[in-house]
Amino acid sequence: MTARVLVTGAGRGIGAACARAFAASGARVARADLAAPAGEGPAFAFAFAFAFAFAFAFAFAFDVSDEAAVTAMADSLRASWGGLDVLVHCAGIIHEAPLLRTPVADFDRVIAVNLRGSFLVGRAAIGLMTPDAADPPRVLMIASDMAHYGRETFSPYVASKHGVLGLVRSWAKEFAPGILVNAICPGPIDTDMLGAAHMSAEWRAKELAIPLARFGQPEEVAATALFLASDGGRYFTGQAIGPNGGSVMP
Ligand SMILES: NC(=O)c1ccc[n+]([C@@H]2O[C@H](COP(=O)([O-])OP(=O)(O)OC[C@H]3O[C@@H](n4cnc5c(N)ncnc54)[C@H](O)[C@@H]3O)[C@@H](O)[C@H]2O)c1
Repeated sequence: MTARVLVTGAGRGIGAACARAFAASGARVARADLAAPAGEGPAFAFAFAFAFAFAFAFAFAFDVSDEAAVTAMADSLRASWGGLDVLVHCAGIIHEAPLLRTPVADFDRVIAVNLRGSFLVGRAAIGLMTPDAADPPRVLMIASDMAHYGRETFSPYVASKHGVLGLVRSWAKEFAPGILVNAICPGPIDTDMLGAAHMSAEWRAKELAIPLARFGQPEEVAATALFLASDGGRYFTGQAIGPNGGSVMP
């Protein structure tokens, strides 16, 4: 059966790369973001246009922190596909500010999107999956290398990503052996999230002081997701896999 894959945060960055990679592998891909992700545009060879049009079965627009919206999306997938084989949950936001200039509203929003959103989307996806020890569905949550350590001026984001690992490790035990649950913990990846609008120049410079001395590409994270969803990923659960250029060696 062709894998049925849901990718959140699929409008750009890591999520868009994951959606493309799964579609190219032959999966049917439902893409979700705050605004419904559009077609793939001229960056793709014409020969692939039809294949992507088929593979990108659905485009959902909703906020991952909105329980009713997440439930509606899951109901729609159940009605259309009858279930789900792979979740790649990429939707997330970052926040950089010294603690003493961090209003509680900012903390609440980061936790709502990154942690509550992971809980809601993960719970909905697992509810759509049929446990199967021989060929288990996969839940892949994009956390961060910052899930492994503390970082000055990023405490709400760091706390949210530590929380995502807590969900992953708990769900991995709760649903073994029928569903595999893993986190992907990227280091610095070259997306809008690390762009000038979101990150200080000082922070970008720090991020480059890693062993591989470059930002990763979204496609390198997508390759990790594809592997974890493949037959080769069947002995992984409760893990935090790091395409991170050596930024952290937990
Ligand atoms: N870029 C990095 O260096 C890096 C490193 C480690 C982890 N991550 C994580 O990877 C994931 C993807 O990051 P990215 O770099 O592709 O970021 P990005 O900002 O380029 O893309 C994030 C996507 O998530 C969507 N999104 C944000 N809030 C949402 C919400 N409430 N509901 C639905 N969709 C929402 C955005 O619209 C956007 O399309 C995030 O969880 C991020 O924390 C990124």
